[in-house]
Amino acid sequence: MTRAGDDRPMMDHEYDGIQEYDNPMPRWWLLLFAVTIVFVPVYYLLPSDIGNITKADMYTQEIAAFNAAHPEAPKMTAEQVGVFVGKADAIADGKVVFMANCVACHRADGGGQIGPNLTDDFWIHGATPLAIHTTITEGVLAKGMPPWGKMLKPEQINSVMAYVISLHGSHPTNPKEPQGILATAEAAKP
Ligand code: HEC
Repeated sequence: MTRAGDDRPMMDHEYDGIQEYDNPMPRWWLLLFAVTIVFVPVYYLLPSDIGNITKADMYTQEIAAFNAAHPEAPKMTAEQVGVFVGKADAIADGKVVFMANCVACHRADGGGQIGPNLTDDFWIHGATPLAIHTTITEGVLAKGMPPWGKMLKPEQINSVMAYVISLHGSHPTNPKEPQGILATAEAAKP
């Protein structure tokens, strides 16, 4: 089908009096399109990439780089953790970490909201400095406590642990009801 006075081919449909030319896609465009289609299986199926690194290698390298940049807090002993308890500079540093990361769930005064009251004698995951250090490091993801070991530096974990312990017995107003088991005041000391 062509149009009167115009020998360019038309598409054989017409909607509301509107017709369109049957213009082919430019050859360069079609060629480029074909090349991209051919490139896809080549790109996905070839085991090696530019520079002879497989995608699995790239993944491993990226994960290794991430882990190097976010070292896991080293496993601590009760003695190593105990050093920070009651230390004024650790508590001061820990307060900064706590205000920046923990208040949304534990409240600025530690009285608890989404997370438990951190100032009372009741602990779900243990009251010793090491237990508190471990809870902060590993978190309790299923209950909504994030694992901070990957997000904070080891020294930040040490100091925020010291700060949490320093809150013990501070009796904030309107605290969350006790959760966990009663630990004697002694247990919260190093
Ligand atoms: C997104 C909310 C959230 C944030 C942020 C959060 N926590 Fe928690 N935290 C929780 C919840 C929920 C629990 C209770 C876990 C459970 O029920 O087992 C908890 C438990 C704890 C416990 C153990 C309490 C116990 O009774 O054994 C400690 C210690 C603790 N958090 C410290 C911290 C510190 C320090 C930070 C900041 C670095 C922090 N939390 C940030 C939600 C949070």
